[in-house]
Amino acid sequence: MAGNSLNRGFFIISAASFLFWSCYYDSKEYLFPEISTNCDTTTITYSRSVVPVLENYCLSCHNTSSAGSLGGNIILEGYSNCKLKADDGSLLGSVSHQSGYSYMPKNSAKLDDCSISIIELWIKSGSPNN
Ligand code: HEC
Repeated sequence: MAGNSLNRGFFIISAASFLFWSCYYDSKEYLFPEISTNCDTTTITYSRSVVPVLENYCLSCHNTSSAGSLGGNIILEGYSNCKLKADDGSLLGSVSHQSGYSYMPKNSAKLDDCSISIIELWIKSGSPNN
């Protein structure tokens, strides 16, 4: 009787740790350590992926009305303005801190890897208006 429930307890513990172990090793962070947790780069679009990054970190200085005073006259609001900076290399150059570009966001920490990957993958796919 006692042996039976001990065995059952042991079975449950091993089953639980096996499940935990297999989840851990299947996790995205383990398989793709360069992409941080919850970084979904499978379907990147301008409107759903790139714009939220710009809104969070960039548009306070680079919107149409603030760009003159805060953003060095560089406007990133709206697809065509953003596309110009994607095409001339300065959008990716500035957020990934490449030499020759002003590092963005100005006076703040570098963007997280996920946000930089989103911008980079969007540009590599031809920066479509999607
Ligand atoms: C606090 C205001 C501010 C924020 C926030 C900001 N910028 Fe800027 N940005 C500037 C200013 C000012 C310049 C003009 C160059 C300089 O002063 O360094 C500039 C320049 C740029 C340039 C041109 C860089 C070059 O070397 O040609 C790009 C592209 C740019 N910003 C993109 C961004 C992006 C993308 C973000 C968000 C990740 C961002 N900026 C956030 C103020 C800001």
